[in-house]
Amino acid sequence: MITTSLTMTGVISTVKARARKGLGGHVTGTGYFASVDEVTERLAETGYLASTAVATTVFLADRLGKPLLVEGPAGVGKTELARAVAQVTGSRLVRLQCYEGVDEARALYEWNHAKQLLRITAGRDEGWDRARTDIFSEEFLLARPLLTAISGDEPTVLLIDETDKADVEIEGLLLEVLGDFQITVPELGTITATRRPFAVLTSNATRELSEALRRRCLFLHIDFPDAELERDIVRLKVPGVDAALADAVVRVVGALRAMELRKAPSVAETIDWARTLLALGADTLDEGVVRDSLGVLLKHQDDVTKAYAQLRLDQVLDAS
Ligand SMILES: Nc1ncnc2c1ncn2[C@@H]1O[C@H](COP(=O)(O)OP(=O)(O)O)[C@@H](O)[C@H]1O
Ligand SMILES: [Mg+2]
Repeated sequence: MITTSLTMTGVISTVKARARKGLGGHVTGTGYFASVDEVTERLAETGYLASTAVATTVFLADRLGKPLLVEGPAGVGKTELARAVAQVTGSRLVRLQCYEGVDEARALYEWNHAKQLLRITAGRDEGWDRARTDIFSEEFLLARPLLTAISGDEPTVLLIDETDKADVEIEGLLLEVLGDFQITVPELGTITATRRPFAVLTSNATRELSEALRRRCLFLHIDFPDAELERDIVRLKVPGVDAALADAVVRVVGALRAMELRKAPSVAETIDWARTLLALGADTLDEGVVRDSLGVLLKHQDDVTKAYAQLRLDQVLDAS
């Protein structure tokens, strides 16, 4: 048993090492990236700083042609990751924003009833058979994101955003589309993707997604970045902030995240706060500046009160 698991570990690390150097096997997926390092570098060029875990999973999703399910708290860069992948691969980004009640008509396609009626009225003298064949043709079909993403030859990133907000029923639909990359329109037949989109599903985990959907996807959990990565993100997004201030900002945000708050500040808020400090002309952090600008980081009065009571700024900034 021990030998087996050691061998497996050996195999996995060899695969990882080969992938980092771009020595993978033949391409079965979308094949945009030759190596994990290339993913990291190209994403960074568009302003997205990926951790090794993020870059590795993106590489694998690309290689294997599997949808990528990205889960994690709000504001940690899930949606942005899909945008960045679209940008570096020169793909169009097709987005399905999920919400309670999103249905087939919003996600797949619907018939353009108004146009169909006009067509019937215009051809009043011709027979119904002729009109019927006509009005159920592609010209009268309104493609919604899932259909748009699988039709067309251009490289496409399909972003199914905040999947957990949709009702469970929509997952059946997603399974079908993401499984075979085809959609059946009863009146027209089956439309199959000529070019597979790179699919990214995001979820804030407000509810569990079905096992079936998870099984179909590669899974990536993005959490708050470590301090080093977050400092780099701040400096990249807010170039006017110097290294010392970026470091102080990230430390304070880290200390706030360690408190039991209703809503911990996300990366998006760290960036906003750095911009705010810049606008206020603050080069260093002191109690006054932090108090005055805390509303950028915390969005509930309970959290602000708690932070006032518990934040020891001198200790946070002194800690090495
Ligand atoms: N790794 C990262 N590199 C660069 N910017 C990031 C990163 N993570 C988060 N951000 C920033 O945080 C913001 C919020 O990210 P977003 O993708 O909207 O969050 P989510 O979809 O997870 O709620 C983005 O606009 C981006 O500026
Ligand atoms: Mg998002």
